[in-house]
Amino acid sequence: MQKILITGGAGFIGSHISTLLLQSNNEVVIIDNFSNSSKKVLKKIKDIVKEKYSNLFFYEFNISNETELEKIFSIHDFDSVIHLAGYKSVSESLQRPLSYYINNLSNSLPLLKIMQKFNVKNLVFSSSCAVYDHPLICPLNESHPALNPISTYGKSKLFFENILRDIYGSSYEWNIIVLRYFNPAGAHPSGVIGEFPADEIPKNLIPYITKFSQFKNYEYVFYGADFKTYDGTGVRDYVHIIDLSEGHINAIEFLMNHNNQFKVINLGYGHGVSVKEVVNTFEDFLNRDLKYLFMNRRAGDADEAYADVSYAREVLNWNPRYNLRDICKHSLNFIKKNPNGYK
Ligand code: WQD
Repeated sequence: MQKILITGGAGFIGSHISTLLLQSNNEVVIIDNFSNSSKKVLKKIKDIVKEKYSNLFFYEFNISNETELEKIFSIHDFDSVIHLAGYKSVSESLQRPLSYYINNLSNSLPLLKIMQKFNVKNLVFSSSCAVYDHPLICPLNESHPALNPISTYGKSKLFFENILRDIYGSSYEWNIIVLRYFNPAGAHPSGVIGEFPADEIPKNLIPYITKFSQFKNYEYVFYGADFKTYDGTGVRDYVHIIDLSEGHINAIEFLMNHNNQFKVINLGYGHGVSVKEVVNTFEDFLNRDLKYLFMNRRAGDADEAYADVSYAREVLNWNPRYNLRDICKHSLNFIKKNPNGYK
C-alpha cells in the first residue's frame, strides 16, 4: 500500500486517478481548492470504491499555502506526489497569461520546497503536449523541439518542467516522471464520475459536445474548417481518462522500482481524429445529426497534434485500451446520469 498525495485531486483527471489508486488499495490524500471542480465528487468516488473510501483523506486549500502544506506533510508520510493542480486551457491562457504563470508556476513552488523539506522525492508531474513548438511534426515524440510553445499554457508547463530538471540535476536524489498529456477525454465506464467543467460553455471539444447533447436543437459552434488536414477540421489525439489514469499508476509503479530518474513521457492514444470524426461518432451513439456551424479558427490552434506513445509503452509498460467510440459512449453515459454535473 502506497500513500500518495494528489494536488488538484478533485478535478476531472484527479478524481479518476484517485478512484483507481483507492481500488488498488492505496491511501490517497487530495488537496484541492475547487477552482475547476466540485466537492460533491468525493461522494461519487465513495459510490465507486465503497469501503476503500476510508483510505481517502481530503484537504481544501490552495497548494501555494506553505503553512497548510507543511501541516499535511507532517501528518502524512507520503511515498509519492502526483501534481495535477493548474489551469489547462490553451485559448484561455492567451487571454489571461499572468494568472496562468501565477497558478501553474509560482503557486507550485511551495510544493517542491515542502517535498524537499520532508524528503519526499518521488514526483509525477502533469505536463502537456502544449509544450511542443509549432510547426508540430506528427506523430509527436518526446524529442520534438519544445523551446518556445505558442501558448502561455504550454510555456507555464515547459518552465515548470525545466525547474524540475534543474532540481533533479542539483542532487540526483529526486525521482521524477513528467507526463505530457494530449487530449484527456471520456468518463469512468460506470458513468458515476466524468468531466463537467465549471464553465457554462466548456472550452474543450468533447465535454462541450457532451454537455449540450442533451438538447436536441442546440447549435454547436466549431472552430476552423480550413486546417491542413484530411477533412479541413482540427485533428487531435483523444486519450480515454481511464487509460490516462492508468498511465499515472504505472508511472508511480516505475518510481517505486527505480531511483534517481528523470523521464519525460507522452500520454496519448497515438492516433489523431478530426473534429468532424468526433461529431460523427457522437451522432452515431445519439442516433441523430447534430446541428452545427464552423466559425473561424481559434487563436493558438494547430492543424493537428497527435502522439507517438512508443516511449510510454516501453518505459511504463502502458497500452491505451479505449478508443474514440469508448470516449464518446462513456461521456454520454456520464451526462445521462449527471445532466447537471455533480449538483
Ligand atoms: C480540440 C479541437 C478546436 C472546442 C487540449 C487541452 C490542453 C492540452 C491539449 C493537456 C480543436 C475544436 C474545441 C470548441 C471546437 N491537453 N473545438 N469548438 O485545444 O487540443 O487542448 O489538449 O494538457 O490542456 O485543452 O483541445 O478540445 O479545446 O480542441 O471546434 O468549443 O476541437 O478548435 O480543433 P486542445 P480542445
